[in-house]
Amino acid sequence: MIYKATQSNILKAAQLIQSGDVVAFPTETVYGLGASGYDAKAIAKIFDIKNRPTFNPLISHIADIDFLTEYAQTDERVLALAKQFWPGPMTFILNRKDNNPALDLACAGLSKISVRMPKHKVALDLIKASGVPIVAPSANKSQTISPTTAEHVQKSLGDAVPMILDAGPCTVGVESTILDMTHHQIVVLRAGGLAAEVIEEFLGEKVLFSDGNPNKPSSPGQLLKHYAPRYETQINVRHPQADEFYIGFGKMSCDLNLSPSGDLQEAAANLFSMMHLAETQKIKKKIAIAPIPNKGLGRAINDRIKRASYK
Ligand code: TXA
Ligand code: MG
Repeated sequence: MIYKATQSNILKAAQLIQSGDVVAFPTETVYGLGASGYDAKAIAKIFDIKNRPTFNPLISHIADIDFLTEYAQTDERVLALAKQFWPGPMTFILNRKDNNPALDLACAGLSKISVRMPKHKVALDLIKASGVPIVAPSANKSQTISPTTAEHVQKSLGDAVPMILDAGPCTVGVESTILDMTHHQIVVLRAGGLAAEVIEEFLGEKVLFSDGNPNKPSSPGQLLKHYAPRYETQINVRHPQADEFYIGFGKMSCDLNLSPSGDLQEAAANLFSMMHLAETQKIKKKIAIAPIPNKGLGRAINDRIKRASYK
C-alpha cells in the first residue's frame, strides 16, 4: 500500500524495519526496497519479493558516515569522496570489516560490501529512525525497469510490500554510480547518477569503466539483460518505423521526449518513467529510442537503454 511520506508514516515504516519487515522508500535515484542490515530473515524477504538471485548483493544505505568506517575498510581517498559527494548518488565497493552475519546475505557471501548515503530527506529520516543501516535494492521485480515513483513500485511488487512511502518522483532518476574502490585504480562498475567526469575532476585522476562482459560481470547485477521493457527495444534510432513507440531526445517529433532542450539531467530523471509508459501503452508494439550523447549522465542513460535493448 502507498502511504504519503509524512513524519508519522516514516516512524511507522521505521517500526516495520525494526520488527523484521520490508518497506519501500524514495531516494534521489530510484525507489528502494529496504530491510534492516541486522536482520537476515528480513533481507531474505527482499530477495524473495524481488525474485532476485541470492548471488546478487545489495547496497547498505547509511545516514551517518561513522557507519562506513565501522563496516568497511576506508582510506583517505574514499573519505574525501564521501565528504564531497555524500549524501548523493555514489556507491562504494569496499572490503568488509564487520562480522555481522546478516550482512553475509546482503553481500551475497562476498568479502566486499557496497555502501551509499542517499540524498533524500525521507530516506535519511527513515534510516535514522530505524537506527540501522538499511539494505536496499531497487524496489522492482528483478530484470524489470527500476521504479522512480511509488506507483511504479506498487505496479511491480503489489501487496507483497506492506508499506510504500510516497514522496513523488525521484529527481535523479537513474541508479547510483558504483565505484570499486578496493584497488589503486578506481573502476566504475555501474555508470549512474554522479557523472564520472565530476569524480575525475575532483580527484585529479582517471577512472576506468568495467568492460561489462555479460557472462562475467564484476558487479553481479550488471548482467546485460537487466532493465528490460516488455516490448522489443531499439536504440540509436534516428528514423523510427510506424510501429515503433519513439522516445526522443532534443528537438524532434516523437511520442515522448526525454528532454526537448537536450538536457541530460532532465533526460535521466525522465528515463524510467517514459520507459514504463512506453511498455504499458498498447498502440505500438515496439520501442525505439533516439541517440543520446555518451558523456556525463548520458553514460548512465546509454547503459540502461543498452540493457533494455538486449535480446
Ligand atoms: O541508486 C541506487 O543504487 C539504488 C537505490 C535504491 O539506492 N539501488 C540499487 O540497487 O540500484 P540494486 O540492487 O538494484 O543495484 C545494486 C547493484 C547490483 O548490480 C549489485 O550487483 C551491485 O550493486 N553490488 C551490490 N553490492 C555489491 C558488492 N559487494 N560487490 C559488487 N557489486 C555489488
Ligand atoms: Mg535494480
